[in-house]
Amino acid sequence: MNISGKTRICGVIGDPIEHSLSPVIHNAAFQELKINYVYLAFKVKPAEVANAVNGMRALNIRGLNVTMPHKSAVVKHLDRVDLSAQIVNSVNTILNKENLLFGFNTDGVGALKALKENGVELKGRKVLLLGAGGAARAIAYALAKEADEIAVLNRTVKPAQALAKVLGGALTKKVTVGTLSPSDIALDLKDSDILVNATSVGMKPHFDDSPVPSKLLRPDLAVMDIVYNPLETKLTKEAKIAGAKVINGVEMLIYQGAASLELWTGKSAPVEAMRQASLKHLMKV
Ligand code: ATR
Repeated sequence: MNISGKTRICGVIGDPIEHSLSPVIHNAAFQELKINYVYLAFKVKPAEVANAVNGMRALNIRGLNVTMPHKSAVVKHLDRVDLSAQIVNSVNTILNKENLLFGFNTDGVGALKALKENGVELKGRKVLLLGAGGAARAIAYALAKEADEIAVLNRTVKPAQALAKVLGGALTKKVTVGTLSPSDIALDLKDSDILVNATSVGMKPHFDDSPVPSKLLRPDLAVMDIVYNPLETKLTKEAKIAGAKVINGVEMLIYQGAASLELWTGKSAPVEAMRQASLKHLMKV
């Protein structure tokens, strides 16, 4: 890496941020593309979000990813927000274009691409989405655009109801809601084709947790987990044993990262280099 006066800066803001994989995948991509960019992780407390966004302007930082817990909080500090990010009130990517800040959400397209690149089609299908947080909302909107039907189940039902209202208003699709109780999951999973876990259940150090009872998993399901640490979660392990098609969290991570990188650099993202860098890093930790 050759840092010079011309190096363009990108990064991610969040709290906690130390375990983010984004610096690993983006710096690997910049290296592969041989472009003079660097990507850093910035720990930003909730009270500092406005200062961080204004700092991006002041320091001419080219691009930022936004992660927990700031995806909604940044929205009001931006100059323009892409329609799909507005609809789900969640921004994970900021582009600084001549001091105007543009907000996007690449979580949705990342999840859609992760499914499609792994051979899962959405048309005519029912999706069962677990979670209604920042990532889940963006994923729900992107998947609901293409799928026939979507069910959103969340630990607390209120955010799921709010999301269903947003989806129902923006798209003419059947949307049902419920909780993460085994009975709600069983009911909705019965006629679903695709299961997506967008909750943090199963994330390190909770290796032994899965949001779905293993007896409900079937060979004709496609199961995608957005949790990428551990690489193999209890859910994906059990889905594999049940004979389901499994897409791990690294897939969505790299495709959302690829979409962000393309916004900042205008270049086609080197997805395979990004995948290899994340897998190598995850094998070490
Ligand atoms: P992200 O940006 O990753 O989506 P988030 O907005 O904080 O993060 O959303 C986290 C999601 O995981 C939410 O759906 C949350 O459920 P609640 O809305 O009920 O909080 C879900 N979640 C987190 N911990 C959970 C747990 N232990 N059991 C079930 N769901 C959990």
